[in-house]
Amino acid sequence: MTSNSFKIAILDGDGIGPEIMKQAVRVFDVLKKHRDLDFELISAKFGASAYFETGKAFPDETKEICDSVDAILKGPVGLSHEESQKIPVNEQPERGAILPLRARYNTYANFRPIYLSKNMAHFSPLKPEIIRDGIDILLIRELVGGLYFGAKDRGVNAQGLRYVKESLEYDETQISQILHVAFQQAEKRKKVLHNIHKSNVLISSVLWNEVLDEVRNDYPGVEVKHLLVDAAATALCLNPGQFDVMVMENMFGDILSDQGGGILGSLGLMPSACIGPDKAYYEPSHGSAPDIAGKNIANPYSMIGSVAMLLDMSLKLQAEADAVWRSMRSVFEAGYSTADLSPKDSGVEILSTEDFGDKVMTKLDEILSTP
Ligand code: IPM
Ligand code: MG
Repeated sequence: MTSNSFKIAILDGDGIGPEIMKQAVRVFDVLKKHRDLDFELISAKFGASAYFETGKAFPDETKEICDSVDAILKGPVGLSHEESQKIPVNEQPERGAILPLRARYNTYANFRPIYLSKNMAHFSPLKPEIIRDGIDILLIRELVGGLYFGAKDRGVNAQGLRYVKESLEYDETQISQILHVAFQQAEKRKKVLHNIHKSNVLISSVLWNEVLDEVRNDYPGVEVKHLLVDAAATALCLNPGQFDVMVMENMFGDILSDQGGGILGSLGLMPSACIGPDKAYYEPSHGSAPDIAGKNIANPYSMIGSVAMLLDMSLKLQAEADAVWRSMRSVFEAGYSTADLSPKDSGVEILSTEDFGDKVMTKLDEILSTP
C-alpha cells in the first residue's frame, strides 16, 4: 500500500448490517473530499446471507478478497434462532464465518472501548452519581484461544448418556502476547491495568497470572489490580469509574463486554477492533438485530465507530479517526438519537438510521473543512 491509498474489504453481514454499513462507508467519501487519500472498497459476501447465496458462510472468494486488502470492515452477522435452524450447524455464521475469520488472521487482540461522554450519560441505566464524569474503559479480550478454540468432543458415554467436553486451552505465548497488548495500552492511558481472572477455580487463570507476573516486569510504571471475573461483573455496575484498561481471556471478555454495552445503555454503542499480527478487522460488538432489520431505525454508531478504529489502528490516520468520533458524539450531544437507543418520550429527537448518518457526515465535513 502506498501511504495514501488503501484497499478495504466491506462485509455487510446480516440483519441490520447492510443499513448501518451504508452509513459507515460514507466516512470514506467525506475523507476523500478533504484529504489526499484514496480508498478502494471491495464488497464481499459473509454470514448467513453468504450461506444462502453460495452454500458457505465464509466463501473462498471472500477469503481471497480479505487476504488482499489493508483492513476489513465487517457488519454484524447471524439470524434469529428459528432462521438459524435452516443452516447446518457448522455453517451457521458464528461458527462458519466469524470464528474462521478470527482464526485465519490470528486476530488475538480484541479492543472493546466502553465509552460514554458525560453529555451522553442519559443513555446509561446507571444513576448519575455512579456515572459521574462518564465512562471510559478499554476492555481487552483475548480472541483466538480458550473455550472458543479448544478441543471439543460430543458423544454417548459407557452409561449410554449423551456427554460433551469443551476445553479451555492456552499456552504461555498466547497469554503473554495479549498481556503485552494490554500493558502497552495501560502505559499509554492511566497506567492501571485490571487483570480479570478466576484463579480460585480455574488452572488456566493460574497460568495466566504466572505469565502476567513475568510480563509485568517490562512495564514497571503500570499498576496491576487483580479482580475475579464474577466480582468484576458487579464492579462494572457499581463503580465503572475505577476501571481504565481491563484484560481477560476470550469467554470472560465475551460476557463482560456485553455487560459493558449494558452499562452504556446499548450494545449499539460498542464498536470493536480485532487485531492480528498482519491483518485486522473491525466490527460492532453486537449481533445483527433481525427484529429491527430493514426498518431504518438502527443507530450506526458502532459501525461508524468501527471505521474510526480502522482509520486509527490499521491506517494510522489518527486525526481523521478523532474527527469521526467527535462528529458522532456531537450529534448525540446536540440531542439526536434513534428509536433503538431512546424511547419516544426521552426528550431527544429521534432520527432514522439514514438521517442520523446525514448529521454525522455533515459534522465530519464541517470538522475536516476547518484547517
Ligand atoms: C462477540 C460475539 C461473538 C463471540 C459471536 C457472534 C461468535 O458475541 O463478538 O462478542 O462470541 O465472540
Ligand atoms: Mg459477544
